[in-house]
Amino acid sequence: MFCATLLTLFPAMFPGPLGQSLAGDALARGLWSLEARDIREHGLGRHRAVDDTPAGGGPGMVMRADVIAASLDAAAPPDDPRAKLIMSPRGQPFTQRQAREWAAGPGLVILCPRFEGVDERVIEGRRLTEVSIGDYVLSGGEIAALAILDACVRLIPGVMGKPESGAEESFEAGLLEYPHYTRPRAWEGRLIPEVLLSGDHAKIAAWRREESERITRERRSDLWEP
Ligand code: ADE
Repeated sequence: MFCATLLTLFPAMFPGPLGQSLAGDALARGLWSLEARDIREHGLGRHRAVDDTPAGGGPGMVMRADVIAASLDAAAPPDDPRAKLIMSPRGQPFTQRQAREWAAGPGLVILCPRFEGVDERVIEGRRLTEVSIGDYVLSGGEIAALAILDACVRLIPGVMGKPESGAEESFEAGLLEYPHYTRPRAWEGRLIPEVLLSGDHAKIAAWRREESERITRERRSDLWEP
């Protein structure tokens, strides 16, 4: 079973939105599990400190290597087969391919940093994989971790109602998705494209493919390589 362990200063942020809808139903059905652990349990002193001032000076605070390592080691023994991730805007970009890989595995241990970041030595020493969900800066790793788990969990066998509904969506064929329509046939003067009402499945498939290609070319030339 896919087991997610989160290391965070805000365990109440989990499961959050993953407790609802598709992921939430799957969680209740035991198709995956989630554990949020409070990093502060490994904090130091009376105030359970988890951070300190940056070596070399500068603004903000840095999460301590010893505290983070203690939290990681308590959550995952050295032989834990799961990948250990740290959320960071400087990490490798998260992709649908990566979601498929992780969804097929035993789960993930995800460190959610706050403050300026984490002491580099614990990233090296515990072989953490730095992962980014996009070129913008969030106030912490929790929302990034939720996004990654959402993308993985929906791919776990049995979570989605119809497995084929995954095969045609954006990125699965290296293309963005074609447009969808449903009743009514006319809405505010806009009509459903005639071909979709034709009943000709080959023609419909060809139209959808062309639309996918057009939208990918127009919006994401970086994905477009026929
Ligand atoms: N933490 C802050 N910003 C982030 C991002 N874009 N991706 C992953 N983790 C983050």
